[in-house]
Amino acid sequence: MSCFCDINGLGKTYPTPKGPAVIVKDFDLRIEEGEFICLIGHSGCGKSTVLSMLAGLNPITEGVIILGGKELAGPGPDRGVVFQSPSLLPWLTAYENVMLGAEQVYYTASKLERHQIVEYYLSVVGLADAMHKKPGELSQGMRQRVGIARAFALSPRMLLLDEPFGMLDSLTRYELQQVLIALWNRNSITAVMVTHDVDEALFLADRIVMMTNGPEAEVGDILRVRFPRPRDRKEVLEHPDYYPMREYLIEYLSERSHRRGQFKGEVDIHTQINVARGENVIELMGSRENQGNRVNLDRQGQQASGVISSARQVRPGI
Ligand SMILES: Nc1ncnc2c1ncn2[C@@H]1O[C@H](COP(=O)(O)OP(=O)(O)OP(=O)(O)O)[C@@H](O)[C@H]1O
Ligand SMILES: [Mg+2]
Repeated sequence: MSCFCDINGLGKTYPTPKGPAVIVKDFDLRIEEGEFICLIGHSGCGKSTVLSMLAGLNPITEGVIILGGKELAGPGPDRGVVFQSPSLLPWLTAYENVMLGAEQVYYTASKLERHQIVEYYLSVVGLADAMHKKPGELSQGMRQRVGIARAFALSPRMLLLDEPFGMLDSLTRYELQQVLIALWNRNSITAVMVTHDVDEALFLADRIVMMTNGPEAEVGDILRVRFPRPRDRKEVLEHPDYYPMREYLIEYLSERSHRRGQFKGEVDIHTQINVARGENVIELMGSRENQGNRVNLDRQGQQASGVISSARQVRPGI
């Protein structure tokens, strides 16, 4: 396999009323052609931000993304995007929603060919009998099937998925994971999927990329998943590596994701904090904005200080 997508020094700074907020910084990742990457990390760390930059829907502040040998500049039909809810046009049927994109991508094809493509993908995702229904007549899972069909019908080289199954019940989620992986396999697409679900990541991914907590989030760790493909859920669950890998991911999310980055706390006046050597996680209790934020002080374990309204140490010296 060769490198298909090279993300180099990627950064995103959003303007905020309080000044620029550096959400993603120095995010580096090389993705092989045909690889399935799952991106996990705490809520708000910047996963969607990275994905939307890959989609070309969010301008890059720093760094570069090389996709298929070319520098990425804006959205394109080479990338299909599936979001948590598929934003279908409510006045069009499932078929017409998928056809909308197909008409643009296959503009040289005949009407019959386009019809066959759209019908094929809607059937593969299990909507053969419901393709002429409007979104309002479909369940959430069915609407998400339309979203998947729409993305695949464009024959993208890369598929970008942002928690596509996050709103579905677990049975529907399992079913759609199977649909997704079957289509990914058949079309040899490179995929990047954001998920909160470590079991989903272990079932789908070739590599699981763990992001550090923001601000200035980056790649914290990468876990390679070597379960043979095609994967059978029962076999994956029974694999001797499954639970150690699952534990590794959970341990990352609950412990190590805090370790990177430095204390750059937004600060409300009042209490002076001084933290001595050692990696200390501090929970800021002060301003509304900071409430509940866990901030790690200095990876090198040097003294760091910040002025915040109040704080309590929640995890001394991990
Ligand atoms: N347009 C914007 N302007 C300012 N800040 C933004 C903007 N979009 C996102 N952010 C901030 O960037 C951070 C990362 O947001 P993002 O949506 O990428 O996180 P996420 O990891 O996808 O979170 P979740 O898991 O909850 O979906 C958040 O603090 C968010 O408030
Ligand atoms: Mg998100």
